[in-house]
Amino acid sequence: MITSTKRSAPSGQQSEMNNTVGHLTDLQRPVYHFLPPANWLNDPNGLIYWHGVYHLFYQYNPDAPIHHNMHWGHASSIDLVHWTHLPIALAPTDGGPDAGGCWSGCAVDDDGVPTLIYSGNPASSSPGFQVPCLATGDENLLTWTKYANNPLMASPPANLDLLEFRDHCVWKEDGIWYQLIGAGIRDVGGACLLFRSRDLRHWEYMHPLAVGNKDRVIPLWTGTVWECPDFFPLDDQHVLIISAWYQRTTHYPVYMIGAYAAHHFFPKDEGLVDYGSSFYAPQSMVDDQGRRIMFGWLREGWSLDSQRAAGWSGVMSLPRVLSIALNGDLMMVPAPELERLRRDGQQRANIEVHPTTRKVLEDIRGAQLEIVVEWQIHDATVVGLKVRCSPDRTEETVIAYDVQEQRLFVDRTHASLSQEVTGGVQHGRLVLADGEHLKLHIFLDASVIEVFANDRACLSERVYPTRSDSLGIDLFTQGGAATVTHLNTWEMASIWAPCE
Ligand code: FRU
Repeated sequence: MITSTKRSAPSGQQSEMNNTVGHLTDLQRPVYHFLPPANWLNDPNGLIYWHGVYHLFYQYNPDAPIHHNMHWGHASSIDLVHWTHLPIALAPTDGGPDAGGCWSGCAVDDDGVPTLIYSGNPASSSPGFQVPCLATGDENLLTWTKYANNPLMASPPANLDLLEFRDHCVWKEDGIWYQLIGAGIRDVGGACLLFRSRDLRHWEYMHPLAVGNKDRVIPLWTGTVWECPDFFPLDDQHVLIISAWYQRTTHYPVYMIGAYAAHHFFPKDEGLVDYGSSFYAPQSMVDDQGRRIMFGWLREGWSLDSQRAAGWSGVMSLPRVLSIALNGDLMMVPAPELERLRRDGQQRANIEVHPTTRKVLEDIRGAQLEIVVEWQIHDATVVGLKVRCSPDRTEETVIAYDVQEQRLFVDRTHASLSQEVTGGVQHGRLVLADGEHLKLHIFLDASVIEVFANDRACLSERVYPTRSDSLGIDLFTQGGAATVTHLNTWEMASIWAPCE
């Protein structure tokens, strides 16, 4: 038997209960979003609710804050908010099919045996062709044993001309296991290939469950390759989430909602899971309350040199609970458990905002805040907030809604005085019904911003203000007036402090 664990714990784990030790002067390091003590994190992997505990595995390089030599990091949580770092779950095996890295995958309960299916990256393979591998765990998910006959498939299905082949979503249906593997079909587009098996170890290729079209741009372009498929029933529909990829330049997750019948998927609606440039490669799990909970990787938006200097790269998003609205939209709300982190709440109501009055919220400041703000829009054309503002406003990030364009946007043009960061405006469509208020639910956590708008649009960004006093908040409108009907704010506690 080949055991996978080369190391007992992530480097820096000594500071398990206080993830900020050694990072106290790091203005950019989040304190209530999950990240390893140091080095590199990307995709969430193997999400599973196991015997009353949430388990989060993740793509992890224990040696440096760069994407290389991928392991599976591991953490667990009882409340979905506070996390405990656990020993590395999977490490590459020299000479094995994953010698070049243990890439993304999923976890399933195989009749009581926790089982991971992941992409082995054979060091010698040409880029793109990873191979499916399997590992089984002990009952606490702490030690993992790789299947002796890995890989589960030596190569992709022979009759397909593929650009890439990796990442797994596995589920059981009528006693049979099914698996999706992400792919790109040359000159066609991204694809999810469907396989079946009786024992999780021997797989038969069926057909593509869904195929994109690389030449189609409306309603949205889905790239040439689909990474990290996630396929699940939600309410009375099925949802397929893929991460659209194109030549290392394009990365965004797309959802499709539709019917699943006779092992074929018929998508009716599709959209972006997140309008920002940061959220990627999401995966979800179901918990004991039947909730579908999704995490995504929040990619960095500053230079590789800055990431090396910081000693860490990559943050996990907050947990998002998914559902489908009556009109068919994908609904995403932050898990209510996050309310446990709220401190020093402040409530205000009925604030009139006009273009000529800049509403500075003098006593609400911070880099770790939760903000719930509801707007009744009168004749304003743009309404929103400026956050992470320096006193002289040389640094500020705009989170706003363009009424005429029906767009939610985050403008990072002046978010940072540093030249090492990505700026620009990210936006996405949000149509408000007649009389519907704009409801922004915003999480600020150092370099992370996550915005949930009206429970059905998300926009996550990374911002890197250079000044320690870039903490202010303004309310503003353009073109006319609006009323803030409610403004609730809280300071947010660290998830590494003992639970209260
Ligand atoms: C997505 C991804 C996956 C791959 C993993 C490697 O971010 O590229 O397709 O398995 O990351 O770390």
